[in-house]
Amino acid sequence: MTLKTRFMRVNPEAPEEDTIRKAARVLRRGGLVAFPTETVYGLGADALNAEAVQAIFVAKGRPLDNPIIVHVAGVEELKLTTDDITTEQEALADKFWPGPLTMIFKKSARLPAAVTAGRNTVAVRMPRNEVALALIKAAGNPVAAPSANLSGRPSPTAAEHVFEDLNGRIQLILDGGPVEVGLESTVLDTSRRPPVILRPGAITREELEILIGPVAMGGKGQQLARSPGTRHRHYSPRARVILAAENDVSAISHLVEQHRQGGRKMGVILHNPMPIEDEPMVRVRILPNELDQLARQLFAAMRELDQMDVEVMIIEKTREEGIGAAVMDRLTRAASS
Ligand code: TXA
Ligand code: MG
Repeated sequence: MTLKTRFMRVNPEAPEEDTIRKAARVLRRGGLVAFPTETVYGLGADALNAEAVQAIFVAKGRPLDNPIIVHVAGVEELKLTTDDITTEQEALADKFWPGPLTMIFKKSARLPAAVTAGRNTVAVRMPRNEVALALIKAAGNPVAAPSANLSGRPSPTAAEHVFEDLNGRIQLILDGGPVEVGLESTVLDTSRRPPVILRPGAITREELEILIGPVAMGGKGQQLARSPGTRHRHYSPRARVILAAENDVSAISHLVEQHRQGGRKMGVILHNPMPIEDEPMVRVRILPNELDQLARQLFAAMRELDQMDVEVMIIEKTREEGIGAAVMDRLTRAASS
């Protein structure tokens, strides 16, 4: 199934109307359009078109039991996805939308079952990205969009990553430049007391608690049952990932030596200065120490090292403050798959 994938640049601050109109037409005809959001690139389909949504699963090789996040540009589209918005959810949307917060709602009968993988709930968010918002408005319907990567690979933080994974599998890629956050949205389930974070992201537990009081972090078991996507192999490079304690120069040097002796080509991703040289068998990438910037560049570094065919990736852990909790969540998943 080879499609001709079009690639169109779009101004991220002031998206060209003509480009958006073309992309919206692809969606309305049931096609797939990859587009930038503030978190990662999404692979969009008309959320009310069951066949179009099914095409997402095929293009990504996504397990059919993994439900998809629906993207809205405002309350109008939100009301096409759910008939049941609580006052707490209204307050959260007021404060954090547009932005990297996904909330779980009771699903409206209008939404095809494919979007929610047969569940009676739907995950919805309003992205903070002019291209995404313009596209959703022009399409006139909510847009179902998982991250625009092949299933199991790190999420795309630039249009080139989407091309690498999905060229020939989708109709159109909108290139709005590199993303702002670099990790997927926070997924919050407010149907339980206290509300539960099913997937940590840029909106932190602390920020949520200021508005709505105590919030729980989904344990492994909860994530398994409530957010099926977190069960699948996810966010991971092809290479085997080994995590090392932050700033532990001797542990990291030891790991490098051990794999050097095994003759294995390796990648090393650090954010603290260490005396480890970049050389043909040891490709070293230094990320910024500042956590927001580190988060923005992490997936790109994983992809770059994968392209170099490293067998092992040794990655320095981060502290868990702010977006660091989400970084560590993704690293832990990558290391365990
Ligand atoms: O930042 C993001 O959220 C990006 C951009 C494109 O918006 N999207 C994204 O989608 O990361 P995806 O499909 O890669 O991850 C969606 C996550 C999965 O873990 C999925 O299981 C969970 O959200 N999810 C979706 N619908 C759900 C539901 N009804 N109940 C619980 N979890 C749900
Ligand atoms: Mg994904």
